[in-house]
Order: sequence, then C-alpha cells, then structure tokens
Amino acid sequence: MTVTIVGSQLGDEGKGGIVDLYGDDVDVVARYQGGDNAGHTVVHEGEEYKLSLVPSGAIRGKVGVLGNGCVVNPRTLFDEIDTLQDRGLDPDVRIAERAHVILPFHRVLDGIEEEVKSESDQEVGTTGRGIGPTYEDKAGRRGVRVGDLLDPDVLRERLEYVVPQKRAVVEDVYGLDVDDLEDPDALDVDALFEEFRDFGRRFEAEDMTVNAGAFLSAAIDEGQNVMLEGAQGTIIDIDHGNYPYVTSSNPTAGGAATGTGLSPGVVGGGEIIGIVKAYLTRVGSGPLPTELGGVVGDTPGYDEQGEGENEELANYIREEGGEYGTVTGRPRRVGWLDLPMLRHSTRVSGFTGIAINHLDVLAGLDEVKVGHTYTLDGEELASMPATTEQWARCEANVRSFDGWPEADWQAVADEGYDALPENAKAYVEYIEDELDTPAYAIGVGPGRGETIVREQPF
Ligand code: GDP
Ligand code: IMO
Ligand code: MG
Repeated sequence: MTVTIVGSQLGDEGKGGIVDLYGDDVDVVARYQGGDNAGHTVVHEGEEYKLSLVPSGAIRGKVGVLGNGCVVNPRTLFDEIDTLQDRGLDPDVRIAERAHVILPFHRVLDGIEEEVKSESDQEVGTTGRGIGPTYEDKAGRRGVRVGDLLDPDVLRERLEYVVPQKRAVVEDVYGLDVDDLEDPDALDVDALFEEFRDFGRRFEAEDMTVNAGAFLSAAIDEGQNVMLEGAQGTIIDIDHGNYPYVTSSNPTAGGAATGTGLSPGVVGGGEIIGIVKAYLTRVGSGPLPTELGGVVGDTPGYDEQGEGENEELANYIREEGGEYGTVTGRPRRVGWLDLPMLRHSTRVSGFTGIAINHLDVLAGLDEVKVGHTYTLDGEELASMPATTEQWARCEANVRSFDGWPEADWQAVADEGYDALPENAKAYVEYIEDELDTPAYAIGVGPGRGETIVREQPF
C-alpha cells in the first residue's frame, strides 16, 4: 500500500520528521514533485541531516526514488549523496528517467526574473534553485530529462536547441551580457554537455535511473510499503495555492499520482496524511491573514498585512521553533494557525489523517489563537477564496485558546496522548473536529522520539 505525506500549509510543516517516524515500516520512499527547493531536517542516531533532494528515508537504508514529477539538479544530488557517504551512510537513490534536469541556466534565469520582478514589488521570494524555469521548460516541451543524460546524441541535440534560446532571453529580453554573468558557462553548450554527460555516466555506472511508475508498481505488487513524500505545501501548490506566490509543482495529493506514475486509484486507495504545523510559517512573499508581526519578510504588495502587530510574539515563536529556512537560512514569517487554509487543504488532498507538529513551541504562551473563519466583503468564509487578491483582503476571525505549560516532552511522547496538557488536547481536538480528520501523530519536539503516535498508517 501507499502512504502519501502532504504539507497542508506553506511548507516546512515537519514533513521530513513524519516520513521518518513512519519510515520503519517502509520499503521505498518516493518524492513526487519539487527539487532542491525543499529542505528537510531529519535527526538520526543523534546526528542531524539536512536534505533537499535525497528522500529522507534513504538515510535509514530505504530505497529513495525521485519521481518523474521532480526536477533534479545533479550537482546538488551528488553533493548530498557524497556528503552522506562521507558520514558513513550508503543511500540507495533511484531517479526517474522522466524527471527533468535543472541546468545551471535555470538558476541564472530564476535569479534574473526575481530581480526584475522586485523592481515592481512582485518577486515571489523563490529559493533561487531554478525550479520555476525548469518546470517552464518542461511545459514548453524543451526540457532536458534525466534519461537524456544517458544518450550523448540526444543530450547534445536538446542543448543545441534550448541554450541559444536562453541566451537570447538573457541578452535580448533582459538586456544582459552573458559574458558578464557570474558563470558564463551556464549558457555554453559544450561546457554543459561535458558536465551533464558526466552526470549521465555516473547515473548509469551506479544504476540509478528507473522508470518510476513501473518500479513503484512492481514494488507494490510485491507487497512492499511505499511512502510518497511531498515537498512544499498546499498553499504554494501551483494550482491550489496562492498564485503567483507559489512553487511550480503540485505538492497536493493529485501530484503524487502524476509525479510517480502510480494511478490515482493506487494513491487514493492508501492513506493521505496532511502535515500541520500548530502555527504558520512562510518564507517568501504573499499574503498571510493570520500573520504576526510583519517586519521580517515584508510582503511585496501586501505591506498592510499584520504590520508590526505582535512583533514580539512572532520573534518568540520564531526563536523557540528555530524558524529559519533549511535551504536559504531566511527567517520565516510567523502567524497563527489558519483553519480556512486547512479546510481547503483537507478538501483538495482528501486527508485520511493529519499529523500536528510543534505543539511544544507554543507551550508557555498565555493564550494561543487561531483564525477560525475569514470575513471578506462582509461575508463569513469557512475556506480560502480562489484569488490571492481576495485572500489578501480576508480578515481572520480569531478564536482564542488557553495556553499550555512547558512539559517534559520526551516523557509526554513516551506516555502517549493522555499525558498531553489538557489545554493542548483541547487545541488538537478542535483541529480534528473542524477538519473531521483524526490526528495520527502529534509532534512535541524535533527529535525522532518526540512524537505522540496514535496511528500506524501501514
Ligand atoms: P519539512 O520541510 O516539512 O520537512 O520541515 P523542515 O524540516 O523544513 O522544518 C521543520 C523543522 O521543525 C525541523 O527543524 C524539524 O526538526 C522541526 N520539527 C519537526 N517537528 C517538530 C515538533 O513537533 N516540535 C519542534 N520543536 N520541532 C519540530
Ligand atoms: P519544504 O519541502 C517552504 C517557497 C519559496 C517561495 C516559493 C517559490 O522544505 O517544505 P521556488 O524556489 O520553489 O520557486 O519558490 O515557494 N518554497 C518553500 N517554502 N518550504 C519549502 O519546501 C519551499 N519550497 C519553496 O520560499 O516563496
Ligand atoms: Mg523544509
């Protein structure tokens, strides 16, 4: 069977930790979208690992697959694999031949477009990893796929088509001189061919490429347990998120089918677990109706959002939760939990269960608030509107909960749900009731053991 892990908010909900928690019963972990924009922190035998491409389970000896829906930067991938090997691990990673390759010019174009957009306050605040430009080329049918790296003739043909176009974009659209770029080789066919053909040889030598759909289906037919690991989150989904402040893929559960080659029936026949952070964080731009503070990560075009209000509280939660980006180190914006957002995410992906993380971070506050509904143009909304402009005008109707005290969280996790402070239980039960979805796991700390496990999905 499959268990699909989906971020229910804006990324960084602690997906990696939950993938890891249920990892013991898993044979294969597959990513279905995104690339090295993702950042997961996983603690294994007291060691912390920060991974952006290698699926978290691979550090625990499981087979890790990067599905066809992913965009793969081989530089990052091999850096991560080499680093893990230096630390004594031997990750088994397979890559879909259909996955698209992030080439150096995709990063260059990501940077240029963000810069140009920033002149009119429209930048997305991307991770700069070239994610958007790579998916653009995929949709434009001019991308380079992992399978192409294995065939020198195909690789050269693809590069000879696409690179001159990208040079023209840099020079004629943006008016820049390629020779003035930090890495002019990013747009040099021969240099690209040489480097990426080498990656292709390594993929081949280490037998890393697979037909992901066939590989995963065979594993399921053999009775293996497959986990589908989403990166990012629902509100930065290109279709269901707050466009244009989104990533360029589908982190929602539908993406798990298209991004692996498993059928929707297979994915839907398994469990789909929504990962919920007990409050909100956001890196990058875009509105956030329940935002606290607003000085960090000002939102272009939405400067009125939460300006200055509760700045201290935002700083407190940011520090307690260590809310700085895994990939970019950027301080994350902070807000209260947003129920209209979660109702939307639950509907889009059909969560069969949720995991609520970071309850420990809120401990010690007198009062914990949530956005229960929105008011938009005098009307009460229980879910998110479809346009970002409308969302930016939504005012959160806040509900307040009594806070809960600090506790020995490891002991709480060991003892189980009953040991959770009463007020924290009331908070959890409110979320379960509103989403009509049971909490399978409750995170009370970053460590592997610091989770209350109520349900084993496999
Ligand atoms: P992901 O991108 O969704 O996998 O999440 P990240 O790894 O980027 O961010 C989550 C961070 O919170 C990591 O540093 C985790 O170790 C940490 N974390 C996860 N769950 C909990 C929790 O319940 N409590 C605390 N305090 N930290 C947690
Ligand atoms: P994980 O998997 C949080 C955000 C960026 C930006 C927008 C587009 O760790 O949860 P991109 O580089 O993808 O084109 O950036 O999406 N973003 C994330 N935010 N967690 C992530 O991944 C993210 N990946 C991208 O900050 O706002
Ligand atoms: Mg992350």
